[in-house]
Amino acid sequence: MSRLVIVSNRVPVPDKGGIAPAGGLAVALKAALEEHGGIWMGWSGKSSGEHEAQPLAQLQQGNITYALTDLTDTDVEEYYHGFANRVLWPICHYRLDLAEYGRKEMAGYFRVNRFFAHRLAPLVEPDDIIWVHDYHLIPLAAELRQMGLKNRIGFFLHIPWPPADVLFTMPVHEEIMRGLSHYDIVGFQTDHDLENFAGCLRREGIGDEVGAGRFSAYGRIFKGGAYAIGIETAAFAEFAKKASTNTTVKKARESIENRSLIIGVDRLDYSKGIMQRIEAFERFILANPAQQGRVTYLQITPKSRSEVPEYEAMQRTVAEQAGRVNGALGAVDWVPIRYINRSVGRHILAGLYRLGKVGLVTPLRDGMNLVAKEYVAAQDPDDPGVLVLSRFAGAARELRGALLVNPYDVEGTANAMARALSMPLEERKERWKTMMDHLLEHDVSRWCRDFLNDLTA
Ligand code: ADP
Ligand code: F6P
Repeated sequence: MSRLVIVSNRVPVPDKGGIAPAGGLAVALKAALEEHGGIWMGWSGKSSGEHEAQPLAQLQQGNITYALTDLTDTDVEEYYHGFANRVLWPICHYRLDLAEYGRKEMAGYFRVNRFFAHRLAPLVEPDDIIWVHDYHLIPLAAELRQMGLKNRIGFFLHIPWPPADVLFTMPVHEEIMRGLSHYDIVGFQTDHDLENFAGCLRREGIGDEVGAGRFSAYGRIFKGGAYAIGIETAAFAEFAKKASTNTTVKKARESIENRSLIIGVDRLDYSKGIMQRIEAFERFILANPAQQGRVTYLQITPKSRSEVPEYEAMQRTVAEQAGRVNGALGAVDWVPIRYINRSVGRHILAGLYRLGKVGLVTPLRDGMNLVAKEYVAAQDPDDPGVLVLSRFAGAARELRGALLVNPYDVEGTANAMARALSMPLEERKERWKTMMDHLLEHDVSRWCRDFLNDLTA
């Protein structure tokens, strides 16, 4: 197969301790690129004075070349914090109320995409396959085409795509839709996202389906598809099995003593429904007094995008809420919620998931949610835990063995916690097996193969 060129805003160059940053995109794609060899280009995560003064940093690791570019402070402010995370992120997560439009930010987003194209083009050979990821880089193909690149270019959106009524509240929605038409394939996580996209094209008469999964819009024909992202299921299960000897995992096991562990693992993001989840946990304890002192809820939540005001505000709210619940319900020998703002290594994470009798994954809206899949993969087949999963996560369309909840329904989520903790072993095994079989068959390598096969067909 041709060389693969992956482009994403965040590039998971492992740090000195070998820990890649938290995030579904980062975790999933590294495995895919290792399989094919090639280039991974993106933002270095650093900002500095002027673009032109900074050479593109290139770093070779095995068969992957990481090509990283700095951005200016203004770029980061306008493109990343501004348009990507204060407009596209909330809009794609159906949060009209949180979108903050600014002309400067919109212009910065398109400017930085042009800049990325100019840095990338000299690295690309004529038969390279280019695969662009996520909402930060939607206009990249249009810029590359304008520079004369004829390569196959695919795009995969890791987050949800909203319905027309939501998308069209965004002033530049037309430019964003047009940007997508310059790809050869536009991939979404679920059929539901794909339908929303088709609905957006139809609503304003911009385009329509023309058969065989193809769309015609803005004078171009391109494919649209749903490709549910997976995880490295077998490897993750192996991590989890071996993790029982890990010192941190051992310490965690000893410290929870004979209590049942409920675990939540998410970036600290308003889309993850953490506030509603804590409320549901409080409701669960209040409705089941016998559980006082008998469960520990561990929420591992690294801070994310703290420079964005909406994130900063929710960080304060969640910390206060966890403190309030612990103050109200805790006892001298029991802290109900252990709330941690830190990333942990993947092998430790796998071990912690395996300790969890219940995995709580209750986003208000999520493209896929890899944590749900990791939790399932990490379970002990002889004594698996129960996944409580939001029906608004893409993963809910595949993980039918989970207890599906509506995260806005706090009481319903609290009831699901109670049901999960008292579920008989046979039912747990049966539910887990359905999910694990699916995850083994639909792992990240298959996702990558399916997308690339379509892109090269
Ligand atoms: P998102 O991409 O929105 O962050 P996902 O659930 O799809 O959400 O992916 C999150 C990824 O980041 C998972 O692979 C998960 O293991 C990892 N992750 C999340 N929180 C942590 C944490 N505290 N420590 C280590 N990894 C984490
Ligand atoms: O999976 C969605 C996503 O936005 C990725 O694109 C991103 O790398 C990850 O979440 C973490 O977010 P950020 O890169 O803004 O820290």
